[in-house]
Amino acid sequence: MPQSTLQGKVAVIGGGEKNLGGLLSRTFAQDGAKVVVHYHTSDDEAKRTVKDVQDAGGQAVSVQGDLTRVADVRRLFDAAKDAFGGVDVAVNTTGMVLRKPILEISEEEYDRMFGINAKAGFFFIQEAGRNLNDHGKIISLGTSLLAAFTDGYSTYAGGKAPLEHFTRAAAKEFADRYISVNTVAPGPMDTPFFYPQESPERAEFHASQAMGNQLTHIEDIVPVIRFLATEGWWFTGQTMFPNGGYTTR
Ligand SMILES: NC(=O)c1ccc[n+]([C@@H]2O[C@H](COP(=O)([O-])OP(=O)(O)OC[C@H]3O[C@@H](n4cnc5c(N)ncnc54)[C@H](OP(=O)(O)O)[C@@H]3O)[C@@H](O)[C@H]2O)c1
Repeated sequence: MPQSTLQGKVAVIGGGEKNLGGLLSRTFAQDGAKVVVHYHTSDDEAKRTVKDVQDAGGQAVSVQGDLTRVADVRRLFDAAKDAFGGVDVAVNTTGMVLRKPILEISEEEYDRMFGINAKAGFFFIQEAGRNLNDHGKIISLGTSLLAAFTDGYSTYAGGKAPLEHFTRAAAKEFADRYISVNTVAPGPMDTPFFYPQESPERAEFHASQAMGNQLTHIEDIVPVIRFLATEGWWFTGQTMFPNGGYTTR
């Protein structure tokens, strides 16, 4: 069986400076990839992630950008090619969450939520499709709410929902270049992204719904993304809902 690895590959990680994206950047670099760490506002976290990669003997650069601006998405991929000569893997972990009843959502909130979750998601896939080498991998981060029947998350789940369709279309359209395109949709994950929208009681409830009575950890999701980024192309056009993991806390 041929062994696929990240050795010598170039990976662009949208939101690659912290939390899930930060661990992905470090892990991909350990696997031998050259990493382009995109960040939005967290300059210090981006510097720390790049330094950690370099201290471990890897190669990384950071690129700032507001990915709701198409020009910034294009600049990110241009910077990756300038730094490392091409791109093989593109993972978009950017997103924004809001838990609010439909009746209270403003036009500005709607535009902001769809700007980063849907529009940036689309143009990240488009630019990856333009720039990736053959046999490349594109992975977007969705949410398990895509499969939920619940209140409060209309603009978050709604904003992420188009990713599934963008993913399927791109999987077909880029298939002749053996580029696989997938969405990974984790459940509630123990990062600072999750807590501001939830009460302690609801956080406890979410944990109670999972094996081991715990929220998902970023260490549980990274192996799924790593698998999609390295192993063949038999998963394409799919949304994967990881509902387990290997960490117990
Ligand atoms: N944590 C959870 O419970 C959970 C569950 C399921 C899925 N997810 C998804 O997993 C992904 C990673 O989440 P995480 O928990 O690791 O939190 P996170 O680090 O806060 O990830 C969100 C990233 O999106 C970036 N971002 C926001 N607006 C942006 C913009 N306009 N332009 C460019 N980047 C922008 C953020 O940067 P700034 O902070 O600098 O704006 C941050 O780097 C997200 O897509 C999220 O929807 C999270």
